[in-house]
This record gives sequence, structure tokens and C-alpha cells, in this order.
Amino acid sequence: MGPIGPASGRTGSDAVSILTLFAILTLFPEAVEAYASEGILRVAQEKGKIGIECIDFRDFTRDRHRSVDDRPFGGGPGMLLRPEPIAEAVAWLEARHGAFRRIALCPAGQPFHQRRAEEYADEERILLLCGRYEGFDARLLDELAFEELSIGDYVLAGGELAALAVTEAVARLLPGVLGDERSAAEDSFGASGGELDCPHYTRPRVWRGREVPPVLLSGDHAAIERWRRTTARERTLRNRPDLAGNDAGPARTDVSISRPADAGSPRPAHSGSPRPAHSGSPRPAHSGSPRPAHPTPNTRDPHGTRGSH
Ligand code: ADE
Repeated sequence: MGPIGPASGRTGSDAVSILTLFAILTLFPEAVEAYASEGILRVAQEKGKIGIECIDFRDFTRDRHRSVDDRPFGGGPGMLLRPEPIAEAVAWLEARHGAFRRIALCPAGQPFHQRRAEEYADEERILLLCGRYEGFDARLLDELAFEELSIGDYVLAGGELAALAVTEAVARLLPGVLGDERSAAEDSFGASGGELDCPHYTRPRVWRGREVPPVLLSGDHAAIERWRRTTARERTLRNRPDLAGNDAGPARTDVSISRPADAGSPRPAHSGSPRPAHSGSPRPAHSGSPRPAHPTPNTRDPHGTRGSH
């Protein structure tokens, strides 16, 4: 399997239209790639629905030690990510693809939820910047107009898991990614509004003395629908009383249904400028062969300054 990174793009007759290109800026590209090479993200890439590029922003350092972090002014524990390598990585990336929606993952960000995933699913290009250490130099976020995003009220060691959570939540909303388009629409927080999904059952009909609710075997679709609504409501009250009574729920855009599966369909970029489709490598996921190392500055030499320092 080739690297997900910059060297892997295909062009010419191989070009495919990708609905959303995710660029993940991280110090741990191989960890991110490992997850992105399995399951739904792998399939979505193979189908050419999404592209995922993992970029190690350490490759954009200019000093001998390739340092990405430094001590905070004013004192305090830990280290902060310096702005320059990240800004250079973003410039390099956007010069190749065009503007991205820029998102910095950090626990102090705005909360991520299904409604936001639906909003992101309309983007052609999403850049996910993974924090490490104590976070970023605040000037970077201001200067590059990053929106800050958190996946929950807990602190992880970095933004990689958060970036993958966002990528997966968005990817599964894109048309043609899930086997059955209804799956996304019927999720918790889905078309039914702000409620949780109802419980589900499969075979065997009796397991450890517990029977599948008879209504589900009745063939009475109206009754099944009523049962599902009732149990969804009960589950919401039990597990997430904060969501109950939220009849309007998160605004649904039903992107997974309304967006044409035709990847060539025009979609407004957040920049407002029409963009050619990404010529992409639907990344061959699992070849079984050992993956070459992620491109390093020595292979990519983003500054063209190899050996000059
Ligand atoms: N990085 C560390 N913790 C995080 C969180 N909860 N959400 C997003 N990024 C993070």
C-alpha cells in the first residue's frame, strides 16, 4: 500500500472525482493511516468517494532538529506547537488543492455533533489539524482562521482520534459510502430529530431466554414504526434526558439522501470558487505488502532546501 500522503496522487485517466478530500495534519501520520486503511474509510477511498491525505507537519520544519514545539511564553507546564511548520504545511497543501475548511482539533473547541458532521459533509476539502502537547500557538489559529473543534469534554493526548472521528462521521454521510443510504438517515441524532436510535435485534429469535419483541416479527410496518418511535423516545429519556423534548432536534439537511451520488455534481466550495474535482488516488488500502514509510522532508523536500541548513 502506498502512503496516503502527497506522493500518492494519481492523475490523467486514473483521475476520479472525490466528494470530500480530508487532509490530516499530524505528527503521527502512520497511526492515522492505520485506522484510515480499514473499514468504512478504506471502502470510501476505494470507491473514490473520499480522499485522505496525512501530512506530517514536522516535514515542514526548517531547523536541524526538526522541532515543532517550544516552551510557552509567560511560563507554565508543557510545550506548545510552533506556528511556522503548520502554516507552511497548510500553504503547501492549499497550493496543490485549493482552499480547505480549516479545523483545529483541541479540547477547548466548539463541540462536534451530528449536525456539524452534516454541515462538513457539504465541504469539498476539510483540513484537520491535530494538536499535541499543550496545544497551538494562538496566533496560528487566528492568522489562518482555524475553527477550533472538540469531540468531547475530556482531554486526549492529541487530536488524531478526534480527526478520525470527524472524518468517519462525515464520510459515512456522503452519498454512496454506506451500503444503504437509510443507515445514516436513521442513526441516532438522525432524521428523526435529536433523538437516539431505537434498539435493534437480529437472530436468534430467542437468546438466553430473551425474545425479540414480537412486533418486529409481525410484518405490520405501521406497528413496527410506532414501536421504534416509542422505544427511541424511552431510550433518549433514559440515556440522554438532555436531548428529550428537543423535538426540533438538530436541523436535518439529509445530505446523505439529497446529495446526488454523482461525484461530479457541482458543490459550492466554502471558498465560493468552483473547483475541479480532486484527481485522486482512491488509495488502494490493504495490499498486504509493507507500507513504505511516510514521505519525509528528505523525499518530499517541501522547501526545496535539502542540505542547505
Ligand atoms: N485533543 C485533545 N483532546 C481533544 C478533544 N477532546 N477533542 C478534540 N481534540 C482533542
